[in-house]
Amino acid sequence: MIPFGDLARQYRGMQSEIDGAVAQVLARGWYVLGEKVEQFETAFAQYCGAKYAVGVGSGVDALHLSLVACGVGPGDEVITVSNTCVPTLSAVSSSGASPALVDADPVTYTMDPGKIEDRITDRTRAILPVHLYGQCADMDPILEIARRRGLRVVEDCAQAHGATYRGRKAGTMGDTGCFSFYPSKNLGAVGDGGLVTTNDAGLAERLKQLRNYGQERRYYHKVKGFNSRLDELQAAVLLAKLSHLDGWNARRREIAAAYTKGLSDTDVVCPVEASGRWHNYHLYVVRVSGRDRFQERLLASGVQTVIHYPVPIHRQEAYAETQGQARYLEQTDLMAPQIVSLPSFPELTDEEVGTVIAAVRKAMGR
Ligand SMILES: Cc1ncc(COP(=O)(O)O)c(C=O)c1O
Repeated sequence: MIPFGDLARQYRGMQSEIDGAVAQVLARGWYVLGEKVEQFETAFAQYCGAKYAVGVGSGVDALHLSLVACGVGPGDEVITVSNTCVPTLSAVSSSGASPALVDADPVTYTMDPGKIEDRITDRTRAILPVHLYGQCADMDPILEIARRRGLRVVEDCAQAHGATYRGRKAGTMGDTGCFSFYPSKNLGAVGDGGLVTTNDAGLAERLKQLRNYGQERRYYHKVKGFNSRLDELQAAVLLAKLSHLDGWNARRREIAAAYTKGLSDTDVVCPVEASGRWHNYHLYVVRVSGRDRFQERLLASGVQTVIHYPVPIHRQEAYAETQGQARYLEQTDLMAPQIVSLPSFPELTDEEVGTVIAAVRKAMGR
């Protein structure tokens, strides 16, 4: 069976580096917000080309704390997309704001900037584009609208480590960039972890307070905050893995190129990398009709697939209050029953990539 993901392969490839990093932290005896977190924050900020980075407990916390730091709260509206992982919306709910959902571009599946202005009201405070599947949203028009209408921009970079838009890295274009280090991400911890990048010193300071109960210094609480701290073990592992990120992303792109070439004469709709964008292929998502049968056929050929995401937010029971926004989400509803992700992690062998291509071709009657 070719699995959809296999994190143990990555660990085996760098076991001594990871074991060494973990042992060092354990021996030092300081486990939460310490020197490894600071080193990782500096290294990741530098990697992205951002001035500041603030490590937090998870990707959803990076989004939530960013919204709070930007002054978003109850009664406000945040413009985002419906074709995303639920945490994007959990963060909006946690801030007390309401989501205004915008349709996806039918080619890149990222936020359609042409549909944003329709959704702006006098309660709108922020735009939250998602760099979905590892491809940046079309940021220039989004930033232009935000500037003109006085809105904050919070980038959801949970899937976009190292991705670029017109030469700028994900996480450096909006007011903040919000990363997840969930183990299966392109840069993954061995547990939960997240980080916010920003070029705004004031926001960085506020985020540092918010992640640690609002403390300005020990036991002096400037604002009401949260517990969302990156721990030393995760930071040490992430620091060890960071130097591999570009290589892993390059391998993901190699696999993506092989899939796109190998499937070019089938009816499978392959992902499109828009001009000026550098996709990190966190996920290789294709569109097919008859998706259930397609998945069954692949499984019969020994290939696991996953759907990202089967139910858009406005069709989720938990977000029933957004159902009425369906009229704005035509493309989102069209793609939901057609999308399916092929295995695309960097440790896949060329032989496995060939097997996936052969299995997809067979499933499509080629
Ligand atoms: C698009 C998107 N946003 C936010 C998140 C939240 O990240 P985390 O699971 O680290 O909270 C994820 C990943 O789960 C994601 O894929």
